[in-house]
Amino acid sequence: MDLTHRPRRLRQDRIRGLVSETSLEPADLIAPVFIDATATTRQPIESMPGHERVPIEDSVARVKEVLETGVEAVMLFGIPESKDATGTRAWADDGVIQEATRRITAETDAYVITDVCLCEYTEHGHCGTLEPELREDDSEMPAPSLTVDNDATLTSLRRTAVSHANAGADMVAPSSMTDGMVGAIRDGLDDEGFHDVPIMSYAAKYESAFYGPFRDAADGAPAFGNRRHYQMDPANSREALREVRLDAEAGADVLMVKPALPYLDIVRDIRQEFDHPVAAYNVSGEYAMLHAAAEKGWLDLEEVALESLLSIKRAGADLILTYFAEDVAGRLH
Ligand code: PBG
Repeated sequence: MDLTHRPRRLRQDRIRGLVSETSLEPADLIAPVFIDATATTRQPIESMPGHERVPIEDSVARVKEVLETGVEAVMLFGIPESKDATGTRAWADDGVIQEATRRITAETDAYVITDVCLCEYTEHGHCGTLEPELREDDSEMPAPSLTVDNDATLTSLRRTAVSHANAGADMVAPSSMTDGMVGAIRDGLDDEGFHDVPIMSYAAKYESAFYGPFRDAADGAPAFGNRRHYQMDPANSREALREVRLDAEAGADVLMVKPALPYLDIVRDIRQEFDHPVAAYNVSGEYAMLHAAAEKGWLDLEEVALESLLSIKRAGADLILTYFAEDVAGRLH
């Protein structure tokens, strides 16, 4: 055959690396870590094999395990010792994240990012303070038209972010999809002199069924209703750009899309329209489904994990939050 173009020429072993367009480094990855104030020993998370809720006393040891794999950043999630209507333990100076952050930053070089949300801290499991009519009459809880009082929640988020920074957090990551959250948090941090603490906004966070295993892990499932009045409709992509634009204008330093794999088009759109670093959150359900299939012998876990993360980078993400961080990083170097 007289073929001029033979793309296969560049797929030979010794040239592949030179022409590869995307690479994955341990430094691109952020490992989520669960700290549990109610635990006295490490508790395995059944739906997320290999992950555990660790007591505050074990937080340093847990983060050191992450660092050994080459991953340099962790995202902390907290399970508080008690919950209430507004989530006051989220901004308590002796709260679970504040305590763990103090220890981790004192004893390791990890870059500590804290999730700023209220769903793990409220007894109803929603990401903020409820609307006044719901607060007064619990019997009307099912199927409310609106669940969270947006503006009342801003005050709580601001306090929470400031308390994390006070404890030493390197970066805060608001995830509640409250309108105005980035502005309120930036304002709070600046007022307290934390000008250099960046905000990674969960800017385009979808109302996704892929969060299922996480809600078990962090004990943060809504006790009634769902999150569709604050998290985004999976049908929408232009709306994601609008959300991201608002957060960028309010001073977000890093823009996140969540989940990752079912929303790679959104990652790409944001990459093309903005010059900020783009993060993608490869969420609990994305992790659990690969593990479940691998357990049945239907997929090669190591291969699909690597391919998934590479795809997320190829779509345009600079950083990836993933439960595979340690496994994959350990194999990259
Ligand atoms: C808190 C929060 C959630 C996740 C990250 N932060 C749960 C939710 O919004 O319901 C999900 C992470 C995952 O599924 O891995 N709001």
